[in-house]
Amino acid sequence: MSKNIAILTSGGDCAGLNAVMSAIVKRADALGWGVIGIENGTAGLLEEPYAVRTLSPADFDGFVMRRGGTILGTTNSKNPFKYPMPDGSVKDRSDELIAAIKDLGIDAVIGIGGDGSFAILNKLATQGNLPFIGVPKTIDNDLSLTDLSVGFDTAVEVATEALDRLQPTAASHDRVMILEVMGRDAGHIALAAGIAGGVDVILIPEIPYTIENIAKKIQQVKDSGRNFALVIVSEAVKTAAGEKVEVADGRYGGVGAYLAPKIAEATGFETRVTVLGHVQRGGSPTWNDRLLAQAFGVRAVDLVNEGKFGRMVAWQNRAVVDVAIEDAIKECRIVRTHGTQVHTARSVGISFGD
Ligand code: F6P
Repeated sequence: MSKNIAILTSGGDCAGLNAVMSAIVKRADALGWGVIGIENGTAGLLEEPYAVRTLSPADFDGFVMRRGGTILGTTNSKNPFKYPMPDGSVKDRSDELIAAIKDLGIDAVIGIGGDGSFAILNKLATQGNLPFIGVPKTIDNDLSLTDLSVGFDTAVEVATEALDRLQPTAASHDRVMILEVMGRDAGHIALAAGIAGGVDVILIPEIPYTIENIAKKIQQVKDSGRNFALVIVSEAVKTAAGEKVEVADGRYGGVGAYLAPKIAEATGFETRVTVLGHVQRGGSPTWNDRLLAQAFGVRAVDLVNEGKFGRMVAWQNRAVVDVAIEDAIKECRIVRTHGTQVHTARSVGISFGD
């Protein structure tokens, strides 16, 4: 009987998840491992019957790898240690989950997730003595010890394209256009897309701003004879008073709408806001994400095959490596305020409002 790897996608989706799974299944098949897909993160193992399916290379024809989303489904609200029950209570179902993995004859688990998912999966692995490997994915790109996580490149591409589309309409109407992007507590998407999209102001949670300084930059733009300005703001940027801006349930959203009237009043420019939202997570992955995803998937299976567990695959110096999961999730990797990207932005005249 062949040995089995279980795979799952957990946390918020992003482009490139199907490409990771495609590579895992193909590499596993070549090395003589079977693959079982668990649906909806770990939640598929808490259903009766288990929501699982065998995956083979035939399931990954030419279409799937190009598709956004995840063919297995995912969740960011069904923590097995605090599982939301139908009666509204929460229950620790971690032991049930570990029992299900053993029941299915699973020899190793590869989880494709971000920091939140890895904290949960690593805890489960320790508790159940489960051989576990992590593949990093998150548009936020905030996992430590990897330069890139799957999904980030596509999110930046979408945000850059949005700026390319906003620029002509901004110029046609003499407006300031504010683009609000995701990224949670790290400003990586806003910084990368802001530079690539040639904005005038980048606002990220790592660099405090003032409205006066934003207005000063926009005034300079006006004085230079340009009739429009572009601003990109990361969702976790706070109000001038240091308060979090959220839509509901602690979720970020609305900082663009908060800033718009203030910028309009301070600059005299008509100001409009675009909130990019989940558009950044959907759609076909860029070539960079497809390449990274498949390199990660192959390496994850190789680690399983070598019997090396408790590791996260990572991208460092243009190569795939592996690092201890605990080290990767120790802290959120935020923007280096004196790093190359911030220096580049400042050097080409972009203001951070500081
Ligand atoms: O972590 C990925 C992310 O897209 C963040 O950038 C964003 O704040 C959050 O997830 C949105 O979560 P949800 O899909 O639950 O609205």
